[in-house]
Amino acid sequence: MAEQVHVSRHPLVQHKLALLRSNLTEPKKFRELVREMAQLLFYEATQDLALAPLTVQTPLAACAGYEVAERVGIMPILRAGLGMAEALTAMLPTVHVWHLGLYRDHETLQPVTYYNKLPSVPDIDLSLIVDPMLATGGSAVAAVDILKRWGARRIKYLGLIAAPEGVQHLSAAHPDVPIYLAAIDQHLNELGYIVPGLGDAGDRQFGTS
Ligand code: PRP
Ligand code: URA
Repeated sequence: MAEQVHVSRHPLVQHKLALLRSNLTEPKKFRELVREMAQLLFYEATQDLALAPLTVQTPLAACAGYEVAERVGIMPILRAGLGMAEALTAMLPTVHVWHLGLYRDHETLQPVTYYNKLPSVPDIDLSLIVDPMLATGGSAVAAVDILKRWGARRIKYLGLIAAPEGVQHLSAAHPDVPIYLAAIDQHLNELGYIVPGLGDAGDRQFGTS
């Protein structure tokens, strides 16, 4: 596995992943698991965030502490990335959220961009693309292309489940982008679904089909 690909071995991540995959898991529980797993992976993906020292006053004394010194942007790929993005804003309320509308054409499996309201000037230090499923990798590569054209310098990708094909595609196209995941599965089927995967992450979160 490439050095830039990080698959969590954390027991809580693996426990929640099995629940997430189960076809018995209803949308409400599914959304809860997406949120919890996103927070655990966010914790792993942000170990290198820069800190600035500060002084905080406790009820007893002044005390040295730290605050996050980097401006972090979260880019959820619509629509399945929404649940992950919401979870990350709860962890770090100062994040900026910029939605990227991309869907996969069902016939060609090629990504189609339909929404992008990034500000004209990049105003963040770290961009985190969030999307639960890295299948062919087309959507992730397109999202990184958009962010690089915009001028983003440090970009990371946070997903839940990937196919080997998607990891290969994203790391070949953008070797400078670290990838954080809960699992790399076996393969893609003929319809471009990850096997065993969890089915359609958007449909399972929002109860559609
Ligand atoms: C899913 C998923 C990714 C994309 C992955 O979205 O959330 O964005 O497919 O596939 P790829 O790696 O082959 O590009 P989808 O296109 O189903 O849109 P949705 O979230 O609106 O359902
Ligand atoms: N998108 C999904 O939601 N699931 C897959 O298995 C592949 C792409």
